Formats: sequence, structure tokens, C-alpha cells
Amino acid sequence: MTRRAIVAANWKMNGDLELVKKMTEGLNDLALAENVDVILCPSYPYLMSLSEATEAEHVHLGVQNVSEHQSGAFTGEISTKMLKEMSVEFVIIGHSERRSIYKETSVQVAQKVKAVLAANLTPILCIGESEAERTAQKTELVLSAQLQPVIDEIGIEKFAEVVIAYEPVWAIGTGKTASPEMAQETHLFIRNFLADVNTTVANKVPLLYGGSVNASNCENLFAQADIDGGLIGGASLKVDEFKIICSTAKGS
Ligand code: 13P
Repeated sequence: MTRRAIVAANWKMNGDLELVKKMTEGLNDLALAENVDVILCPSYPYLMSLSEATEAEHVHLGVQNVSEHQSGAFTGEISTKMLKEMSVEFVIIGHSERRSIYKETSVQVAQKVKAVLAANLTPILCIGESEAERTAQKTELVLSAQLQPVIDEIGIEKFAEVVIAYEPVWAIGTGKTASPEMAQETHLFIRNFLADVNTTVANKVPLLYGGSVNASNCENLFAQADIDGGLIGGASLKVDEFKIICSTAKGS
């Protein structure tokens, strides 16, 4: 089974117009492998500038969140329709910071995935366990409990259009990356969890690893059979480092 590789930048609440300029200049002249897609997920105010400045064919626009509602009295929220008008193609859903700080539940996450798919956008569904959960050997339980409500909401066939990002919470912004073997083991668990319901779909879904990925550790992570790319935080704010990460990715 061949899968395209994806390198997605989650700028979180960072970046400015200067970074937009430097990043697009850097990526516009970067030669990527044929089967690699790069996705830039800035804060909403930078979408227009990024979309105007991006020339590279394999660079796509994403965001970090969206409302599960279509329109109406939801002050401060952004709809999928608005994102489509901004040329957005991907939406990060259920990042651990949204789950922990903004109390997004797995059911709400599932509703957002459904709304994103209904708008013909691609969700990047984030799942991952905390340090305490890993220590208590509850990783598989936690990941199953995060995946199942999404399967229940959208059905397994629709899952073929979803990208999953496995981000162990203890590895996010800490410099503590999961070892390539540990990450592969967990990715394989995720793929098998989906395969138990539908093997064809499970083989199609790109599984990204996230958590302290940088220019030095990306090669070994991306070399793993079930790691199809990365969701990059801190290192995606540094143009030269991010370019190395993008050039390292290869589809399978
Ligand atoms: P870091 O790469 O900074 O650890 O962040 C990972 C992340 O949360 C990406 O969504």
C-alpha cells in the first residue's frame, strides 16, 4: 500500500507576518520528493497572506481548529465555510492543548471531524496519551477511547479521508521525543485498531507523529513503516529547520 507523506506545521499561537514571508520564500524554492505534501497551519489572521505568497504546488493551507456548527450565534468561532473561502484544505482537530485547556471532549472532537468532512476539507485528528497514562500502561485504552467516538460519528468508510496525528502529550514541547521504535509500536496499534474494523481504510490513513520532532530526529522517525510524516510545533517556526524536515519526508 502506498501512502503520501505529510509534514504539517502547527504554529500554535506563534508567528507573525515576517515568518509568513520567510517561510513561503523558503518553501517556494524547496524541491520536495514527488509524494510529499507540506501543510502550513498558522493562526487565522495569516491565512490570506500565506495563501497569496505560497507558490509551491505541494504546499497546502491548514488551520488549528474549527467550529462544529455551520453558522449562527457562536461568538469567536470560525466555520468550515469561511475556511473554504480562504483556500484552506486541512483542519487540525482535537489537539491535546484544545482537549486540556479548552476542555474539548472526544464527542465534540468527533462532531468537528464530521463537520470538516462534510465541507470537503481534510481533518488532521490528534490523539495521544499523557505521561501518567503511559506510565500506568493505559496508552492503548486512551487512544481507543479517542478514536472510537469518531468512528461512531462518521463511520469507518469516511475514515479513509482522515489524517491521524499521534502526539504523546509528554513529548509536546518538552524535547522528549518518543523513540522511533516506541512511536512505530503505537502507530501500528492505531493502524491495527482501524484494521479490526476495515483493513482497506486502515491501510489508507496517513499516520503522523508529533512531539518534539526536529531536524535531527525526523529521519529515524520517518523511516518507520507506519509513520507517514509529522505534525511539527516548535521546529516549524524555524525556516531552515522546517525545510530539512520537509526534505527528509518520503512517501511509502
Ligand atoms: P512540538 O513539536 O513543539 O513538540 O509540538 C508538537 C505539537 O504539538 C504539534 O501539534
